[in-house]
Amino acid sequence: MRFFLDSANVAEIEEAWEGGLIAGVTTNPSLVAKEGKDFHALLKVIAGIVDGPISAEVLDTTAEGMVIEARVLARVSPNIVVKLPVTAEGLKAARTLSRDKPPIATNVTLVFTPMQALLAARAGAAYVSPFVGRLDDIGQDGLQLVGDICRIFEQHEVDCRVIAASIRHPVHALQAALLGAHFATVPFAVLRQLLKHPLTDAGIERFLADWRSSGLSH
Ligand code: G3P
Repeated sequence: MRFFLDSANVAEIEEAWEGGLIAGVTTNPSLVAKEGKDFHALLKVIAGIVDGPISAEVLDTTAEGMVIEARVLARVSPNIVVKLPVTAEGLKAARTLSRDKPPIATNVTLVFTPMQALLAARAGAAYVSPFVGRLDDIGQDGLQLVGDICRIFEQHEVDCRVIAASIRHPVHALQAALLGAHFATVPFAVLRQLLKHPLTDAGIERFLADWRSSGLSH
């Protein structure tokens, strides 16, 4: 499993990318709205930092409108992956975009059932994004969804990557990795939590203290 940063914040993206923590970025309209910056200009800045997939979501709800938006977004950078909702219109758009020359990669989002994921993959999506936390929020098992999708894709040799999304805490990321997700897209705070351990910090302190008290030179 590789990590994407689920953020549209340039400072966070820069830090995560330079720190070697992420393979790409996912955004959504809520995350972009939070930054209050021009969408395309922001994507250009992100594409200047990150040399990996950058998911950017369409806002139109018709297949025709999504395809037009997607083609404009794809021109921002070859790394753009167009995010489409898992609706009939979204899958129609995914099919069209997968047949563009060259094809435009899509990430079908807001996936809440294994069959939505399979249909999206069959329509030509390069990625599907099951939302773990939002299922947990309504008392369902978000991680079970990730596991089911991974199993179905493996069993039927489906050529589509699974991005565990709506990750709220480190255990979501750990379980997504164990279940076989290809990617987890995580908020910056969770990415930091994944790296941190108090015994690592204490271990460094003790090594340095022992070295200092030995009087040895470096
Ligand atoms: O990028 C979509 C997803 O990760 C959103 O997460 O926490 O708003 O459910 P959340």
